[in-house]
Amino acid sequence: MGVYTLLLLALLTCAILPQSTPDPDDEACLTRLRGSLSPFLSNCTNLQSLDLSSNSLAGPIPPAAAALLPNLAALNLSSNRLSGPIPPQLSLCAYLNVIDLHNNLLSGEIPQQLGLLARLSAFDVSNNRLSGPIPGLLGNRTRFNASSYEGNKGLYGYPLPPMKNKGVTILGIVGIGLGSGLLSLVLSFGLCVFG
Ligand SMILES: *[C@@H]1O[C@H](CO)[C@@H](O)[C@H](O)[C@H]1NC(C)=O
Ligand SMILES: *[C@@H]1O[C@H](CO)[C@@H](O)[C@H](O)[C@H]1NC(C)=O
Ligand SMILES: *[C@@H]1O[C@H](CO)[C@@H](O)[C@H](O)[C@H]1NC(C)=O
Ligand SMILES: *[C@@H]1O[C@H](CO)[C@@H](O)[C@H](O)[C@H]1NC(C)=O
Repeated sequence: MGVYTLLLLALLTCAILPQSTPDPDDEACLTRLRGSLSPFLSNCTNLQSLDLSSNSLAGPIPPAAAALLPNLAALNLSSNRLSGPIPPQLSLCAYLNVIDLHNNLLSGEIPQQLGLLARLSAFDVSNNRLSGPIPGLLGNRTRFNASSYEGNKGLYGYPLPPMKNKGVTILGIVGIGLGSGLLSLVLSFGLCVFG
C-alpha cells in the first residue's frame, strides 16, 4: 500500500470518527485505525463535508481523494502541515463550495481547473508556499479578495499585485540559461554534422 493510500485511508477514517480535541488525540486517531481501514472507504462516497482542520496532518493531499468523494461540498484542511501541490482533481468534486487550505506548506501553482467550480463560495489558500499566477477565473470572483491568497511569497496576479520584478529577473536568468544551453547544443550538433 502506497503512502498516498495510507494517508487517504487515514484521512477518511478520521473524518468519520467523532471529532476529537486537537493534538494528542489526532495522532491516536491516525495510528489506531491504520490496520483496518479499507471497509470504511465505501461508506465515504457520500461524504459531504471533510473538516480535518487544525491537526498535524503532513504529506501531500492525495489526488485520488477527489475521485472517491464526488459529493464533497466542503473541504477544510486548514492549519495542518500538508505539503506538495493542490491536486487539480479537486475540480472533479462538482459540488464543492468550500475549499479552505490556509496555514499549510502547500507549494506549486493553484490549478486553473479550480476556476471551474461554479459553486465555490469560500476559498482560502493563504499562508502556504504557493507560487505562480492566480487563475483568472478564481481571481476575479468578487467574493475572494486578497486575504484568500496572502502569505504566499511566489503568488501574483489579481487580487494580489502583479508579478514582482524579482520574479522577472529569475525568469530572465533561467531564460538566458536555457537559451545558451540550446545554443551550445545547436553548435555541437553543427560540429558533429559538418565537422
Ligand atoms: C460501511 O461499509 C461497510 C462495508 O462496505 C458496511 O458493511 C457497513 O454497513 C457500512 N456502514 C454504514 C453505516 O453504511
Ligand atoms: C476551517 O476550519 C477553521 C478551524 O476550525 C475555521 O476557523 C475556518 O473558519 C474553517 N473554514 C471555513 C471556510 O469554514
Ligand atoms: C474573469 O476572468 C475571466 C478569465 O480570465 C474573464 O473571461 C472574465 O471576463 C473576467 N470577469 C471579470 C468580471 O473580470
Ligand atoms: C476580505 O473579505 C472578508 C469578508 O469576506 C473581509 O472580512 C476582509 O476584511 C476582506 N479583506 C480585504 C483585504 O479586503
